[in-house]
Amino acid sequence: MLLASIDWDRLPRHVAIIMDGNGRWAAQRGQPRIAGHRAGVEAVRASVDTGARLGLGALTLYAFSTENWKRPRYEVDALMRMLRKYLRIELDEIDRQNIRFQTIGRTAALAPNVREEIGRAFNKTAKNTGMVLSVALNYGGRAEIVDACRAAVQEIMREGKSPDQLSEEDIAGALYTSDLPELDLLVRTSGELRISNFLLWQSAYAEIHVTETLWPDFRRAHLLEAVVDYQQRSRRFGGLKLVANAK
Ligand code: IPE
Ligand code: IPE
Ligand code: MG
Repeated sequence: MLLASIDWDRLPRHVAIIMDGNGRWAAQRGQPRIAGHRAGVEAVRASVDTGARLGLGALTLYAFSTENWKRPRYEVDALMRMLRKYLRIELDEIDRQNIRFQTIGRTAALAPNVREEIGRAFNKTAKNTGMVLSVALNYGGRAEIVDACRAAVQEIMREGKSPDQLSEEDIAGALYTSDLPELDLLVRTSGELRISNFLLWQSAYAEIHVTETLWPDFRRAHLLEAVVDYQQRSRRFGGLKLVANAK
């Protein structure tokens, strides 16, 4: 069994998933795209549960990108409605598993009823000490870097320093993910070999695992498979010596 193949001392600290392929899953069944998004909720449930049971430090899910506004209004509305419903139904279970919920992205631009549901989940789980579940909403990697640079430059100026004193640490410390562990593993479903503007800064040295599985079919075994794959990689971070995976 896959669980037996996991090395518990070398788990990735932070796993992020580009949840892709809902539309294709639905098309294969002659159903509307929205049916694929609805089916994808079960994959979210399975991944969050598996991540928490594994004891990951952080799980980050790409749910809606800054570019996804280009989709038809009814699809955007359906995605937002499903997010609200997911949070309403799952919040108690998330809390029970000691998971801390947060969002990353320009969430101020989301509809008030979405922000309200997000706020409720955030507040209810704020004191939890287990896995941090971040849902990326109206998230763009470039937008995040712009936001981080603005904040970091303001901080530098407030301290009376000059812009050439701006360091990588200053920017990293101003990212939406500054309180999360280093991104170790980036998973993408549906076989697409691109990052699609997700966690651009954080994925500098992340290991990438791409599976052909479409998101609505993604289950516990697929996440375990990604972790096992990650544990077989030799991470060098630009150096020569073999670095054992995360600790
Ligand atoms: C991922 O599935 C869900 C979101 C991007 C919100 P898609 O809707 O992108 O599905 P495909 O890629 O068209 O199959
Ligand atoms: C990435 O998937 C965004 C999310 C999973 C939320 P997309 O389907 O939007 O990405 P592209 O268009 O294939 O690059
Ligand atoms: Mg897609």
